[in-house]
Amino acid sequence: MHKQKGFYWFKYIKPYLPYFIIGPLCMIVEVIGEVVMPKLLSVVINQANAGTLTDGISLGIMAGMIGCAILMMTGGVGGAYFASKAAVSFAADLRSDMYRRVQQFSFANIDRFSTGSLVTRMTNDITQVQNLIATALRMALRAPGMMIAALIMAIILNPSLSLVFAVSIPLVLVTVVFIIRMGFPRFAALQDKVDNLNNTIQEDVTNVRVVKSFVREDYEIDRFGKANSELKKTGMSAFRVMIFMQPVMTLLMYATVITVILLGGRIVLSGDMEVGDLSAFITYVTQVLSSLIMITFMLMFSSRALASAKRIREVMEEKLDLSDENASFPDLDVSHGEIEFRNVTFRYFKDSADSVLSGINLRIPAGKTVGIIGSTGSGKSTLVSLIPRLYDCDEGEVLVDGVNVKEYSLEKLRDGVSMVLQNNMLFSGSVSDNLRWGDENADDDTVRHAAKQAQADKFVSSFPGGYEYQIGQGGTNVSGGQKQRLCIARALLSRPKILILDDSTSAVDTATEAQIRTALREEVHDATKIIIAQRISSVQDADMIVVLNEGRITGCGTHDELLSSNTEYREIYDSQTGKGA
Ligand SMILES: Nc1ncnc2c1ncn2[C@@H]1O[C@H](COP(=O)(O)OP(=O)(O)OP(=O)(O)O)[C@@H](O)[C@H]1O
Ligand SMILES: [Mg+2]
Repeated sequence: MHKQKGFYWFKYIKPYLPYFIIGPLCMIVEVIGEVVMPKLLSVVINQANAGTLTDGISLGIMAGMIGCAILMMTGGVGGAYFASKAAVSFAADLRSDMYRRVQQFSFANIDRFSTGSLVTRMTNDITQVQNLIATALRMALRAPGMMIAALIMAIILNPSLSLVFAVSIPLVLVTVVFIIRMGFPRFAALQDKVDNLNNTIQEDVTNVRVVKSFVREDYEIDRFGKANSELKKTGMSAFRVMIFMQPVMTLLMYATVITVILLGGRIVLSGDMEVGDLSAFITYVTQVLSSLIMITFMLMFSSRALASAKRIREVMEEKLDLSDENASFPDLDVSHGEIEFRNVTFRYFKDSADSVLSGINLRIPAGKTVGIIGSTGSGKSTLVSLIPRLYDCDEGEVLVDGVNVKEYSLEKLRDGVSMVLQNNMLFSGSVSDNLRWGDENADDDTVRHAAKQAQADKFVSSFPGGYEYQIGQGGTNVSGGQKQRLCIARALLSRPKILILDDSTSAVDTATEAQIRTALREEVHDATKIIIAQRISSVQDADMIVVLNEGRITGCGTHDELLSSNTEYREIYDSQTGKGA
């Protein structure tokens, strides 16, 4: 991937740059109002104190105060509005970019992150960053601005009284830093516990059917309870530290105010300062100290959000290990469907000693039907997943129509190769929506025809609403065999040159399976078909059957040839026909 130079996040800020600028500027306007107001108030108090307020507050002062109030309100509202708008827009763009990125991920990329973590990063982590931006835009100028402005006003009012800041500012700083250093590790731990809890929830709720069928509810409730109580414990310990924050800060603030009143009172009595100025001074003290506290808090929260930002960048900068950027023939279509494996070796983990596939040499002429048989874990699914480049082989070559699969664009390649995955999925939506994944422009007759070939038309027609029947999330409201047939229909609808069925009729009864086979043979005759099956009966009329054992091809031929020449094949056959016993 092209490595971004400079400030990484700028491309998400750029479209909303005006908001990012206007927001903080509004806050400055608010600060001006807030800092000038006490000064005006002090004038009134001074006049009242001196007994010169007999004619009421002067128009100028009144207008000034109303002006300050308007500045505070428009600045505050505008600042909050633009900051939120900037943060929300930033997050929305980032989220959609991240989503697009994850869609480009290969199976191997997804294996590396795990689905749960990707979901957390796309939701929770982005929200953290969004909150930081909203807060930062409001506070980044406001807090330091307010602190400096109030400090200056205080010094102008009374330089010698301002010496209290020399003591109270360091005192507040030290205390805040101390509390944050105590609290921060606890908050970091808190984040881990939240992750933990989310993982538990996600796993249990998505797999609630399995949980129930194994009557594991109590166990899972227990597991959840543990994660939950750990979160509570960590949360309590983190917040116990934070509970001190507020009272300690208030204490420090009032200690300073009292000191100012004590010292300032004397100055007032000696006639070197007016009462109104003292009251304004006290307001500035609270403004300076509360801004200071705000700044340190913001630093703390930003370090938390920066951790999230890092997690987001990991996803955005994950190297896509499958790309078609360097494809030599990006416009080439799969035209015949001939497949060839040349000396192919593959492993899921590049550092593992044993390869999942090794020394695979296999040529499948276009239009033929090939069966793949082998014990569980022998590498059947892995072998076929190399054809549409769900994974890339480590050594050797996979060719389609004599061209290395890496030289096609992924889109053209996968248009030509349709694969019904072993753990296939349907999506929430109507039956016809689901089938149209194969071809979004297919008309109703075409959809129906594909369903007929997959022996799905009959049961779909019996659904309430027929093809408009709504499938539940993950396809839970159709039976296993129905789901498999819908997935086959979906694949057929894309009219592929190469059709791969990975154990796709395992839940279909043998009579229906035979009908599907007949339909495939008679109506989809020009496509190359690869059928992975556990039952020999599913593949025995294939033009060629490949026997796979521990990632190697141990036999290749027709049913009759293999029966006489391949012991492994014969054993499987005997065990399935009852002769083995
Ligand atoms: N995504 C993956 N990450 C790591 N290892 C995997 C992955 N998928 C499969 N494997 C491993 O690769 C080997 C071959 O798996 P594969 O799924 O190809 O077997 P299979 O022949 O299709 O088995 P089955 O008949 O059970 O479907 C197995 O040892 C499996 O554990
Ligand atoms: Mg498999």
